[in-house]
This record gives sequence, structure tokens and C-alpha cells, in this order.
Amino acid sequence: MYGEWPVTEQQHAPEPGLENLLSEERRFPPPPDLAAHANATSDLYAWANADRPAFWAEQARTLLTWSTPFSTGLDWSNPPFATWFADGELNAAYNAVDRHVEAGLGDRVAIHFEGEPGDTRTLTYADLQREVSRAANALTALGVGTGDRVAVYLPMIPEAVITMLACARIGAPHSVVFGGFSAEALYSRILDAEAKVVVTADGGYRRGAPAALKPAVDEALAKGPTTVGHVLVVRRTGQDTAWTQGRDVWWHDVVDTASDQHTPVPVNAEHPLFILYTSGTTGKPKGILHTTGGYLTQAAFTHLNVFDLKPETDVYWCTADVGWITGHSYVAYGPLVNGATQVIYEGTPDTPDRGRWWSIIEKYKVSILYTAPTAIRSCMKWGEQWPAAHDLSSLRVLGSVGEPINPEAWIWYRSTIGGDRAPIVDTWWQTETGAIMISPLPGVTTTKPGSAQVPLPGIAADVIDDETHSVPNGSGGYLVITEPWPSMLRGIWGDPDRYVDTYWSRFKGIYFAGDGAKKDEDGDIWLLGRVDDVMNVSGHRLSTTEIESALVSHEWVAEAAVVGASDETTGQAVVAFVILRGDAAGAALPADEVAAQLRAHVAKAIGPIAKPRQILVVPELPKTRSGKIMRRLLRDVAEHRVVGDATTLADSSVMDLIAAGLAAPKA
Ligand code: WT7
Repeated sequence: MYGEWPVTEQQHAPEPGLENLLSEERRFPPPPDLAAHANATSDLYAWANADRPAFWAEQARTLLTWSTPFSTGLDWSNPPFATWFADGELNAAYNAVDRHVEAGLGDRVAIHFEGEPGDTRTLTYADLQREVSRAANALTALGVGTGDRVAVYLPMIPEAVITMLACARIGAPHSVVFGGFSAEALYSRILDAEAKVVVTADGGYRRGAPAALKPAVDEALAKGPTTVGHVLVVRRTGQDTAWTQGRDVWWHDVVDTASDQHTPVPVNAEHPLFILYTSGTTGKPKGILHTTGGYLTQAAFTHLNVFDLKPETDVYWCTADVGWITGHSYVAYGPLVNGATQVIYEGTPDTPDRGRWWSIIEKYKVSILYTAPTAIRSCMKWGEQWPAAHDLSSLRVLGSVGEPINPEAWIWYRSTIGGDRAPIVDTWWQTETGAIMISPLPGVTTTKPGSAQVPLPGIAADVIDDETHSVPNGSGGYLVITEPWPSMLRGIWGDPDRYVDTYWSRFKGIYFAGDGAKKDEDGDIWLLGRVDDVMNVSGHRLSTTEIESALVSHEWVAEAAVVGASDETTGQAVVAFVILRGDAAGAALPADEVAAQLRAHVAKAIGPIAKPRQILVVPELPKTRSGKIMRRLLRDVAEHRVVGDATTLADSSVMDLIAAGLAAPKA
């Protein structure tokens, strides 16, 4: 499962001709004016290093408001189960909303919402307080109590953030399921978390048209008995919506009419704030559990310092959907806890045209932009004329997240979007880490295109070899976190053993992230991609095993193997190799028809994001004598390379068979 890490390095090898531009000597010192007023200064590293738990305790005290102050910091007496600030009490929604209103900032804009059709909505912190209070009262009336789980399946509309905060307000952990996931995926997440209520919408706008959401909820709940008592439905598009009397309720009926007065429920710092499912190396997604005090501390600290946020003047925009961890930590929690003004945009970057993002930045004078390399590469492909038509001079810090950013995209982002002025922060972290772990600090770090560079103050990361030794500068290995951190996952929902096995067993007592990395001559960290059976498609995590299971669940398929092949735009793309059952109807159909059917099947089982770019029907799969599929060889085929060493195959003629079968490539 491990040990393939060097393979991914070649994915982001610079194109010929760019060597000069991207030479090792290319360095970008922090802009002097930014450095002079930066929130984070270089002395933070030494301070944090001297006593990490004390450093974080200080951040927890200064960045958050506690209803009961904590007296304990980190408790690591029962590793790998950590607690932080465990005798303190607080409420996440109070910290994100009410305390700003109490501080006299009620009129500050919290959210500039822009719908894809062009409709807008402005929510001040005072508005947000009323909306979140109403939603909290409505959820309570629907039977949600402290500790109950709420599934959230919404488009990127203000109600998504309002719902998350309303859950936090009553201490009901939310489980947000990305709107692009299928009914089946939603169903399994509802079951695993035993959700009491599902919050959804009739639909949302995508690519210029309404896309329905509620039917997927209906389909999910029809699959079998669940713990769901009510479905709370936001009217967003106005499309016809099937209704189950007694179960379904409209948001405008029960939330808009509820009282806007609500007292937030103080919870223990270790009270679950949310569950977020993510793909692992097995077929079953993991419910990553985050708690309240430590998570909020690191979300707020990183948001303030990595983006150098000035809440009075900045306009911040993170393009991630709340269905992902980025949308949790850097849309719903970090920015609001810091009292920021942010933009939320519902739709796609190319609707109505490819200048939409740049027009939003110009319109709201966005000063901090946080997005993903895949989006940057798409914009590069679309051409400079789109950003060039807009005034982007408000931008002063640019962030990247989700996958390694290739140096070409980094340089383009810096020059074309950032006007060679705004520093780039390439932020490495994971659903499990809860918040940013490795990143430059914009006023401190001299940046290098393509490198996430240094662990943040208070974070201890290293690159180690198979024997757990720290590798010397200039070498590669496995990225690990060697000390507990405040926003670390507290476990996998309902499965403590899997938590220990997945993250803490490969290297005893050390958190293994699943990524390969190298240290350069200066000791800066460069991420090289996953070393396990996890793919990264457009910054989204997908499991090879999960897609393989989806494929073999189709009656035509006898066997399937999935690999992540490098892709110019999406980073990696899903390529599947399938063996059809000899007697299956599909065996008689043309290969492209088979591929189309199976792609649709995967979309239904998991969601459109998991659809393979390419499905190849093959007579055999390359396997070792012990029966393990050699994905490395399939990746060679998928990336059109000369197939590597196949001598450990049980039957070495298999690759010839596959090559012969692929002589006429199919799309
Ligand atoms: C995996 C985590 C963190 C929010 C988005 C994805 C990859 C993430 C970077 C980066 C290189 C990165 C890693 C990681 N990744 N950010 N800046 N440079 N790789 O969250 O779905 O939990 O995926 O994304 O492989 O393990 P996620």
C-alpha cells in the first residue's frame, strides 16, 4: 500500500523551457509594506517552540471567548487520544457571531453573498445573529437537542453557514455532505452518524440552470429506515418539489417565523462540533470527528496569521464549498470567529462567462483570495484576457490549498492574478488536521514556487524514512506530524480502532498523513502527493477502493482496478480498468457504450466527482503472485508511459494483452 511515493513526483515536473523561470534560485521575499504590518512575525516560531502547549493555550485565550475559562492545556496522557483545554466551556456560534455584535460590530458585513444568477444578499453580523438564532430555535422545535447529529446537504448559500452555526449554537454536531455526492453516499452518511434532521434545499444554481437537491434526499431516505425525523428545506430555486407530509418542512415556514432570540448553549471544549466524511484507503468513508475548543483555536489562529487578516479592512474570499473541510475551517468558522467580512459565491467560475471570479473580486474589492491549484490551472487555460478585463488591484494575499501547486501555476497566480505584488501562501493540511499545518507566513517567509515550506508556529512536522528516521535535507520520505496539535481529529466517528490503525500505526506514536514529501537543501518541505490508495482529483480526495467497489457492484463487471493518472487541469484523474463478465449483456456492446454506462453508475454510487475520466475494458489485470493489483503498471498505461518493471507479475504476458487491447484507444 505504501512505498510508491516517488512516482507522483514526475506529475509536476516543469514543462521544458520554464527551467529558468522556475530555477531553484527563484525566491520571493515578503513585500516590505506587508511585512512591516504583518500579524505574524518571525519570533512566533521561537515562542511556540519553547513550549507548544503553552503557546496554543495563549492563542485559545486571546482568540476565543470562553464562558468557563480552561485551566488545562494539552492532555496527551492517553495517546493517540488527545484533549485540549478540556475543562473549559464555550460556544462556537457565540464566538463566530454574538460576541462581535456585543463588541459593537453588528453593522459590519459578515457575508456578501452572490448567487450564480446574479442575485445578492448582504448579512451583517447582527443579521447573522438573528438568522442563526431563528434556525437554532427551529431545529430545537424539530426535536434536535444537544449532542444530536444534523445532516446538511445544501448548495453554497448563506443558509449553509447559518445551519452550521445554528447546530453549533445548540451543541448539535453537524455532518455536512457535499451537494455533489449521490443519494447513496448521503444515505450511508446519514446512517453512520444517525442524523435526526436533514437540512437541504429544493436546489441550487449551477452552470446557469437550477440543479435539484431535494430528490436525492428523498431517494436516500427511501433506501431504508433511518433516524431522520424531519427534512428542513430551503426554497432556493422555486422548482417543483415532492413533499412528504409530516416529515418535510419549509425553512420559510419554520425558521423565518421563529424567534430571533436564542441563548447559545455552552459546551465543553471537547464537545463534538462536527463530523465530516472523507475517503480513505478502504471502501467505507471515515467520519472525521472534530471538537470545539482546540479546533476553533487553530482555525482562528491560522486564518488570522496565514492570510494576515485585518478584519476592519480586508474582504476575504475562499472559493471552497462548505461540503469540504476548507469550507468548514475557512468559510464557516475561521473567518467569522475573527470577525472578517467575506464573500460567498454559489456557482461555477465560468457562468455566465469565464470572467465571473474576477468580476466578483473587482465588485467586492476582495483582498484575500483562497483557492485551489486545479481552479488556477483552469483559469490559465482559459487565458489572461479574462482576469485582465478586471481591476484586481485590491488583492494583497493569495492562498492555495488541496494539492501540490505546480510551479507554472504558482507563477501565473502570482503574476496574472496577484500583479507580482501579493504573496502566495501554499497551505498544506487535511480534513484530519482541521486547520492549516504547513505554510509560509506572508510577512515572514521568502517563498519558493511549489513548496508549502515550513510547519506553522506550534506545529511539529517532519519527513521520515521507513525506519522512522528524519531524512536529511535534499531527501524524500513520508510526511508526519510528531506532536499533537489543537485542531487534530479526535477520532473516527464510531470507530476508535480504525483511528489508531489508520493514522498512528504505520509509525508508532507518530501521525502519518499519507503524503510523500521531500526536504530541499534549506529544509523546506515540498509535498509530492499521496502514497496510499487515495487520489486527489481537483483537490478532492477520492479512494481507489471506493470507486472499484462501485464498479464491481455493476452486474457487467467482474473485476476493476482504479488509478489516479496525472491530469493537466485536475491534478489527477480517475482511470479505471475493468474486466467484464463473459456472459454480461455489456460484453456484446461497443466499448464506449460500456464506458458511458459504467461512468453513470459510479456517479450514482458516489457522485459525479468520482466519475472516471476513462474506463478501459481489458482482458486481464496485472497482479503479483500474492494477488495484489500492480497499480503502478496501470498508471504507466494510463499516463501513456513505457510500462515499468513487470517482473514481479504472476503472469508477465498480462501487460502485453492489455497493450494489445488498447491499441485503438477509446475516450
Ligand atoms: C490531502 C488532504 C486541506 C483541505 C483540502 C483537502 C493534499 C492538501 C495540499 C497542499 C500538497 C496538499 C494532501 C493531503 N493537499 N493541501 N497545499 N500541497 N498537497 O483536504 O480532502 O482532506 O485532502 O490533500 O495529499 O493529504 P482533504
